[in-house]
Formats: sequence, structure tokens, C-alpha cells
Amino acid sequence: MRVLVTGGAGFIGSNLCDYLISRGDYVSVIDNLSTGSLDNIAQLQDNPRFQYVIDTILNRKAMESLVQQCDVIVHLAAAVGVKYVIENPLSSIETNICGTEIALNLANKYKKKILIASTSEVYGKHMHAPLKEDDNLIYGPPSTIRWSYAAAKLVDEFTSIAYHRTKKLRVVIFRCFNTIGPRQTGLYGMVVPRFIQQALRDEPITVFGNGEQTRTFTYVADVVEAMCRLMECEDAVGEVVNIGGAEEISMLKLAERVKAIVGSRSEIVLIPYDQVYGKDFEDMMRRVPSSQKLKSLIDFVPQTPLDEVLEKTVEYFRSRIT
Ligand SMILES: NC(=O)c1ccc[n+]([C@@H]2O[C@H](COP(=O)([O-])OP(=O)(O)OC[C@H]3O[C@@H](n4cnc5c(N)ncnc54)[C@H](O)[C@@H]3O)[C@@H](O)[C@H]2O)c1
Repeated sequence: MRVLVTGGAGFIGSNLCDYLISRGDYVSVIDNLSTGSLDNIAQLQDNPRFQYVIDTILNRKAMESLVQQCDVIVHLAAAVGVKYVIENPLSSIETNICGTEIALNLANKYKKKILIASTSEVYGKHMHAPLKEDDNLIYGPPSTIRWSYAAAKLVDEFTSIAYHRTKKLRVVIFRCFNTIGPRQTGLYGMVVPRFIQQALRDEPITVFGNGEQTRTFTYVADVVEAMCRLMECEDAVGEVVNIGGAEEISMLKLAERVKAIVGSRSEIVLIPYDQVYGKDFEDMMRRVPSSQKLKSLIDFVPQTPLDEVLEKTVEYFRSRIT
């Protein structure tokens, strides 16, 4: 199979490329390296079944020639990370709405199957758990710019469903919950790589807010497995599906867990949100997925234990310290 991975030099994308190449597929990547890096795909560059283009998904011509050559598109390219979106509000909306529209439009033109990456952020400010795909969505006002990421991804979901219903486009939308593992960077607001790097340097581990907000974390290899099974699953076409982990943990407990695994002398400190993101910031206090739909579609749910993933990720960052 020939797979086009947009955002393939990013964290999830590069792990997906490794997997696809290892099972014998042909892989093309388009990435503008805004948050991804060539390092992430360096191990693939001499493989004759791998090619990459450094360009933006907003370049319709570049996208068109790649879409024509592939059998299936996995659309991962996006402006990602709370910090990145707050610092780049306009270009983030442009990438996340117009870029996805280009990918969907070309998939429809050339009749290619497409998987669209959405996010657990679309659920907004829920306090109940677990979150099911047909739950209502609760957002804050547009002056709180973080919601633009959720709203843009929701527009992507609506557009995907509209293409499916009106043009019969074969599209699958998956909502990733916090995904972690090797190659994730801490530069744009991702909590686990930031905690690990702070712990490895014995610097204060900075927990934002009161630390009681909870998340689940999914190992990137589990997410890759789920995506590849969804790619093959005809019943998933036209559907929105959660991909997320099971173990709910507060950020304060996560900091303690990381500190213990690293064996760090770091102190854990609480930092008010406004000192990190300015005023007008709201966090989501809880985010736990229902995996029922995923299980019924592909008979797989992510279950690598959090400690195991943290250990692998610590190992990755340790190996990069010279
Ligand atoms: N990592 C998570 O926890 C998580 C959670 C929910 C959803 N997602 C979704 O998964 C996808 C992949 O995220 P990730 O965690 O790998 O982030 P990432 O930042 O590592 O990957 C995104 C990639 O897209 C590229 N990109 C951004 N704008 C582009 C553009 N205009 N043209 C071409 N390439 C562009 C970046 O350079 C990067 O390589 C995203 O769509 C994201 O919204 C991720």
C-alpha cells in the first residue's frame, strides 16, 4: 500500500512512518517542519520505499501530486500544542481549517481513503468521564484563544462528515487523547516531555494551575496500531472514534511519578496559569475517553501501562543527553 502521511516528520507521524515502512508499505511525507524535525525521519531517508517533501499542506499543487500517487492519506499535519496555538493564533487556524479542507478536497477528487486526526480537546470543558463520541461539546468564549484549536478541529470533523455524506468520501475521524512517547517535544506545551526534561536536569518540575487537572496518556505505538487498524476497517468509514488511554492521573501525581522514575532531586512547584499563558486562559480539568466504540470497531484498545511508557520516554530523553 502507498500511504501519504501529512505531518510525517512530527511525533506521531514519524512513529507511524516507521511502522508502515517496517511492514512493507510505501510512504510519502509532506511536512513544513514547523514543529516536526528531519531528525525524526533520518532513519528512513535512505529507504527506497520512503520519500518526503518539505512543504506546507496549504500548497495545493504539492499536495495534489502526492495525493495522486497514494492509496490512502493519513492527515496529521496541524498546528499542535496549547503554547504553539496561543502564540500563533492566526496561522494555526489557517493550517487546521484550510489545510484539512485541501486534504479532504483532493482525497475526494482522486477518490482516496483519508484518515483525519482530531483531538480530545473537541470535548471542551466536561467534568464527567468517560467521554463518548456523541457527547455534547462545551467551549469557552473566542477571546480565550485555546478554544480555537478545538473549534478548528471540530470544523475539520464537520467538513469530513459533510464530504462523506454528500460525496461518499471514505473518511475516518479519530480523536486522539494525550499521546506520549519517544520523539515528542516539550517545546509547545506538552506536559510529559517537559516534566521529564526538568527532572533529568534536577530543575523544578513546573505544574501549571493547582495540579488537580487529570488526563489519560496513550503510548504512541498503541495509537499507531489503532490508526492502522482503522485504516483497514470499513465500518469505521464516516465515523468519529476516540483513541485514548485508560489510567486517569492528576498532573501533580504525574510530576511525582516522573520524578520517581527518573530518580530526580527536582522539587515540584505549582505555577499559576496566567504566569504561563497570560490572562484569559482556561484549562480542561478532566479528560478520560470511552474506548467502547474503538473496541467494537477494531477489537483493540490502547493498554500499555503508564509507568512503562514513562520509562521508555525517560530512556529516550536520557539517550539524547550528551
Ligand atoms: N500528541 C497528542 O497528544 C495529540 C493529541 C490529540 C491530537 N493530536 C493530533 O495528532 C496530529 C499529530 O500531532 P503530533 O503530536 O504528532 O504533533 P507534531 O507537532 O509533532 O506533528 C504535527 C506535524 O505537522 C507539521 N505541520 C504543521 N503545520 C504544517 C503545514 N502547514 N504543512 C505541513 N506540515 C505541517 C509539523 O511540522 C509537525 O511535523 C495532529 O493533527 C494533532 O492535532 C495529537
